[in-house]
Amino acid sequence: MSLIETSPSLIATLPGHTYTDEAVFAAEQERIFEAMWFCAARSADLTGPGSFKTVQVGRESVLITRNRKGEARAFFNICRHRGAQLCTEESGQAQRSFQCPYHAWTYDFDGKLVAAPNLTKMPDIDRVEYGLRTISVQEWLGYIWVCLAPEPPSFDETVRHAVIERLGDLESIEHYDVASLALGRRIVYDVKANWKLIIENFMECYHCATIHPELTEVLPEFADGFAAQYFVGHGAVFGEEIKGFTVDGSEGLDRIPGVSEDQDRRYYAITVKPQVFINLVPDHVIFHRMYPLAADHTIVECDWLYLPGVVESGKDVTASVELFHRVNQQDFDACERCQPAMSSRVYADGGVLVPSEHHIGEFHDWVSDKIAGAVRPSVS
Ligand code: FES
Repeated sequence: MSLIETSPSLIATLPGHTYTDEAVFAAEQERIFEAMWFCAARSADLTGPGSFKTVQVGRESVLITRNRKGEARAFFNICRHRGAQLCTEESGQAQRSFQCPYHAWTYDFDGKLVAAPNLTKMPDIDRVEYGLRTISVQEWLGYIWVCLAPEPPSFDETVRHAVIERLGDLESIEHYDVASLALGRRIVYDVKANWKLIIENFMECYHCATIHPELTEVLPEFADGFAAQYFVGHGAVFGEEIKGFTVDGSEGLDRIPGVSEDQDRRYYAITVKPQVFINLVPDHVIFHRMYPLAADHTIVECDWLYLPGVVESGKDVTASVELFHRVNQQDFDACERCQPAMSSRVYADGGVLVPSEHHIGEFHDWVSDKIAGAVRPSVS
């Protein structure tokens, strides 16, 4: 989409209001976050039957749990009686069932209505029909992905396809056996910026030389401004003196056994629209999930994943975690620095993308197509 005249080197970004307008954000919630596969929780965080998490997906609260067989299940977190929110905690362990705190309608871990005051006196109530409304679930890479759409898009053609588009094939990510890795550290970032600014920032490396001194030390080619995800299958090579993907280039942790020789000493970044970033290095995986809460507010949960033996043995992962923690802070500071300008009159028509950022234009076109017709055209 191009709203302003530009030279051939420059293409236009989205206009400023698309980062601040609550009507645009509502359209994105409906057409993107509630319509696509959304990475909602880490599989290992739901330890067994009744272990649960509540997560905001678009405009809906979603309850994720495991049934008696240990299968992941997801429901709209709304009691079918008169609509009370069923679980108000962010996470917890239900003992035998989920009981609504209002009139005590009670649901099993498959969502079926199993008890309610005077239920036996209302034999016509179908316990499945009046069970919790279910949501589609997939588990992949050690995460639980949900889709609120009644007929979800193909998981293969969307989520897995995003990985293939970036790496060239699925085998390349299978080498890291991400689902078998253990959580070494989780940091949650409260970012006062629109989710699109965070994606755009992750997609380009034009900013790397300016704001990521530690990262460009480890990955010298990033100083040239081309992101690893600019080329299919390319992983940024570690600098010659660099021993590991750590804040000071010191030795990393135990290498993941399946990582191939040509993947060794390389960093791969993958964007899975609309809210996941996956970063692969030989000894760990950094997995970001965004939870967009408002036009100017996004929570980012970032997991650092290592071989289970590394985590169980208590090896020090600090230097390893610190590298991308700093990158995250530097990136999110930059996004927060841009957010206030999005409502400025001088940014009404947006900014520009230089050639090494032109692929962000495809992301802008993708968002614009998704929400087309859902919001009135802007007047600029
Ligand atoms: Fe849940 Fe009444 S609203 S039991």
